Amino acid sequence: MIDLVIQDKTHDESRQGEALILDPVAGKNNGRKLYIESYGCAMNFSDSEIVASILSEKGFETTSDYNNADVIFINTCSIRENAETRVRNRLKEFKVAKSKNPGMVVGVLGCMAERLKAKFLEEEKLVDVVVGPDAYRDLPNLIDQVDSGQKAVNVLLSREETYADISPVRLNSNGINAFVSIMRGCDNMCSFCVVPFTRGRERSRDPFSIIKECRDLFDTGYREVTLLGQNVDSYKWAQPHPTLSKGEGWGEAVNFANLLELVALIHPDLRVRFSTSHPKDITDDVLYTIAKYDNICNYIHLPVQSGNSRVLELMNRTYDREWYINRIDAIRRIIPECAISTDIITGFCTETDEEHKETVSMMEYVQYDFAYMFMYSERPGTLAAKRYADDIPEAVKAARLTEIVALQQKYSLVRLQAQIGKVQKVLIEGFSKKSKNDYAGRTDQNAMMVFPVDERYKPGQYVNVIAERCTTATLMGTICPPTP
Ligand code: SAH
Ligand code: SF4
Ligand code: F3S
Repeated sequence: MIDLVIQDKTHDESRQGEALILDPVAGKNNGRKLYIESYGCAMNFSDSEIVASILSEKGFETTSDYNNADVIFINTCSIRENAETRVRNRLKEFKVAKSKNPGMVVGVLGCMAERLKAKFLEEEKLVDVVVGPDAYRDLPNLIDQVDSGQKAVNVLLSREETYADISPVRLNSNGINAFVSIMRGCDNMCSFCVVPFTRGRERSRDPFSIIKECRDLFDTGYREVTLLGQNVDSYKWAQPHPTLSKGEGWGEAVNFANLLELVALIHPDLRVRFSTSHPKDITDDVLYTIAKYDNICNYIHLPVQSGNSRVLELMNRTYDREWYINRIDAIRRIIPECAISTDIITGFCTETDEEHKETVSMMEYVQYDFAYMFMYSERPGTLAAKRYADDIPEAVKAARLTEIVALQQKYSLVRLQAQIGKVQKVLIEGFSKKSKNDYAGRTDQNAMMVFPVDERYKPGQYVNVIAERCTTATLMGTICPPTP
């Protein structure tokens, strides 16, 4: 969990660069090998599983060695400049592989593909295919096009595509935790953010396919699903199935609170997590639903970005400091045990020292369990890039970041120390990274717990663990009977 407070990382960059392994659908092997690598957030990672599904249907087999591949895909992120730099450096490495194997197809997928479109083909000569996040169904055709000697681009964004009918191929999975996309795109237009441009308009996936996917995961042994969207609180499905509206007593539409409840009802042993909540949209209804079901985890990621109302307005976040504090107070009131994490940007355009201090005081008020913290990185085409000068010197951005990272370390420790002596229900996810003598798993509140292996319990099972010690990132404890 130390990753969670490391500066300037996209949420899941800890998983960046992972090679993904999939098996071709039996009997369809086309003799070609695919290598796919993902960068960026959980949504991108989840999309790679959709891409894997589409290509395994076409008979592709995967390899974890790109030198051995016929097709290399890199699923990219544009959120900050350094995310793009990392991808460009990686492409240089692929260039060497391609020089040895001229028939190799190199494709750029995801947000950077959408942002740069055909320009990618001019800028990076080795790239053959550029495909945006809503065009993955077209991948087999695009590969055919490249095979016939042309370059291929499809960056059309869609208002409808949710890939609802595609069963993702679970990649590098532990068979216990899975991501499930419930919506795509974002309509919020935060002024610093490139996502609305790279992912297009917000659209919600139908609840039936979401529930089916979660139920299938549970039936095959998964014990935790994380429902994904850029703003899960604005999930809305307007054409409910008759049995949902009548049988469950809901109105005309399924909102996020309803969806959470539906997923929670699949089975009490299926843990439900979700990301990301938006302070302007998170309702008391959602909070009461979390409080009502033991298997909806007491953990909310609620990005604040800044603690100052003027900066929040420039960021176009559509809430102010008081509103955010009101939402935090509601969480503390309705779910007293809830862990809260956040995202913070330092050095946004015109941010003064005084305004930065309000971010610090917000951290002191909330005492976040953890935080992802970033220096502002101007993204071409965003509202902030058009309207405001990126006028805070890098050294000031960095100093502010260093200050809040240190403060967060302090609160991460305080929050974990408060757990010591308490018994937690932990879902065993596997062995600890450091030792095969220890298991690792997360508590309901998303804290990582490490504890000695007890052969009676296996990964995928819940155990009660008493927390005995901690670092800033991990609890350490011992299994204590009776286990649930
Ligand atoms: N949809 C999520 C955030 C997705 S991006 C939400 O609204 O909370 C993840 C985080 O990256 C953001 O919360 C923000 O803190 C950070 N981020 C986005 N654009 C950035 C930029 N231009 N510079 C620095 N950090 C940025
Ligand atoms: Fe970006 Fe804001 Fe949408 Fe999050 S809510 S993805 S920060 S525009
Ligand atoms: Fe990056 Fe795109 Fe996700 S820009 S953070 S991969 S939505």
